[in-house]
Amino acid sequence: TREIKIAPSILSADFADFGREITAIESQGADWVHVDVMDGHFVPNLTFGPPAVKAFRPHVKTVMDVHLMIAPVDPYINAYADAGADILTAHLEAGPHIHRTLQAIRAAGMKAGLALNPGTPAEAAAHLMDMVDLICVMTVNPGFGGQSFIDMTGKVRQLRGMIGDRPVHIQIDGGVTPTTAPLVAAAGADVLVAGSAVFKGGSVSDPAPYGANIAAI
Ligand code: DX5
Ligand code: ZN
Repeated sequence: TREIKIAPSILSADFADFGREITAIESQGADWVHVDVMDGHFVPNLTFGPPAVKAFRPHVKTVMDVHLMIAPVDPYINAYADAGADILTAHLEAGPHIHRTLQAIRAAGMKAGLALNPGTPAEAAAHLMDMVDLICVMTVNPGFGGQSFIDMTGKVRQLRGMIGDRPVHIQIDGGVTPTTAPLVAAAGADVLVAGSAVFKGGSVSDPAPYGANIAAI
């Protein structure tokens, strides 16, 4: 059986206390820290950019998994490498040259992730399987936390088949809860992003619920 990693998304964290929230989720069992960058253009929300991500870096002791919901991507790749991103994930839909973008992410020394929106078929990634270290399957339309899960188990199974024995993670992003997690894990996902399901009921001064929430997924 595949070992499942949990990557809490700090989009659901206290925006006035990211450093302490990162420490809190990692002390409560987070495997990775999922950092949702939004530009108010590719998605209808705006979060933070390279300077903030750089400030998060010293607090991250596990893996800083940066999800770019931005367009264009290429002009910012070096800034996120400088900020210390371990994994940099770009949306296939963010521009006409995703192959070049993935090449550039790896050339900048980061692991390359490819994100697919719910409307994008698995086949779109067919020629990119040797260019990626991770495929992020969006199970919500990107932009916000706390949305309802869109069932993409068929796409996950298809992607697992396309990946074959390559060392490529399938990450699920959006609406992951103790109810939806088993569905996507059974279909072949091995990294689960969760924001609202992890942060609910807790706070930096009372992080124990974070641990219980992570364990329940
Ligand atoms: C949505 C983000 C997700 C989101 C997940 O655009 O990419 O990572 O923060 O939040 P939940 O788990 O609450 O759906
Ligand atoms: Zn995300």
